[in-house]
Amino acid sequence: MSSSTPKVALVTGAAKRIGAEIARQLHKEHFNVVIHYHQSEKAAKKLADELNETRENSAFCIAADLNDLEQINSLATQAQQQWQQIDLLVNNASSFYPTPIGETSEEDWNQLINSNLKAPFFLAQALAKNLGTHHGCIINIADIYADRPLKKHSVYSIAKAGNVMLTKTLAQELAPLVRVNGIAPGAILWPDDSHKKAEDKLSDENKEKMLAKIPLQQRGQAQDIARAILFLTQSPYVTGQILTVDGGRSITI
Ligand SMILES: NC(=O)c1ccc[n+]([C@@H]2O[C@H](COP(=O)([O-])OP(=O)(O)OC[C@H]3O[C@@H](n4cnc5c(N)ncnc54)[C@H](OP(=O)(O)O)[C@@H]3O)[C@@H](O)[C@H]2O)c1
Repeated sequence: MSSSTPKVALVTGAAKRIGAEIARQLHKEHFNVVIHYHQSEKAAKKLADELNETRENSAFCIAADLNDLEQINSLATQAQQQWQQIDLLVNNASSFYPTPIGETSEEDWNQLINSNLKAPFFLAQALAKNLGTHHGCIINIADIYADRPLKKHSVYSIAKAGNVMLTKTLAQELAPLVRVNGIAPGAILWPDDSHKKAEDKLSDENKEKMLAKIPLQQRGQAQDIARAILFLTQSPYVTGQILTVDGGRSITI
């Protein structure tokens, strides 16, 4: 591909937080970016404006509820229509909240499994041909809790464990044309729990306890995940791997 035709990345859940930082860093590396969002329309459009100011016609937004297969497929179709190519799919969007045993509904199961597992699979399937044509890659954002479950978050942990297997199986199925890898973040940004019930919020005490278990003695930053994304996009002999970015936390739990 000539340097005048930018590569194209679709980043899900990219309006805010880690997804927005991934989109910004990919854009800095000359990717055009498709910013997927669900409810954060204002933030998504603001980010697209910011990126388009730096480089004209280099970012645009698509809304989709990843609980809905039709919307997942429509997201894939619209994303391909804009620049006719997709070189990178980053499955970043995720719902995250506690599901204590005895209090978990089928709707909770669906929300958590759909955003963290089902949507990444069906987006990959819908984009596989285009990604293959461009020797592209897929990066799934998992979690260190895929290996060792987070207490009271069984459905989220199950979904992320599935996300890790999704990475391995897609790496096998889509080779040699498409590489598929995952990133397992540790504590990066505290959950946005402004809308949660008091008992579901992460207490300051629990935050302190969590930080105390991190060998590097601090939280990571969204940039650390974006950096890992760039590494994986630039590593042509790496596929089917999960890169843990957690300040060493997973060796202590
Ligand atoms: N934050 C951390 O420290 C941490 C730690 C370990 C793993 N991770 C993983 O890293 C990734 C990014 O983390 P984050 O904390 O930045 O994520 P986040 O803010 O909790 O969620 C990212 C976005 O996912 C979108 N989303 C959720 N449910 C959706 C649905 N049904 N349909 C469409 N979009 C949906 C939301 O988009 P809208 O706002 O537009 O609705 C949200 O902004 C996630 O995969 C997360 O599991 C994060």
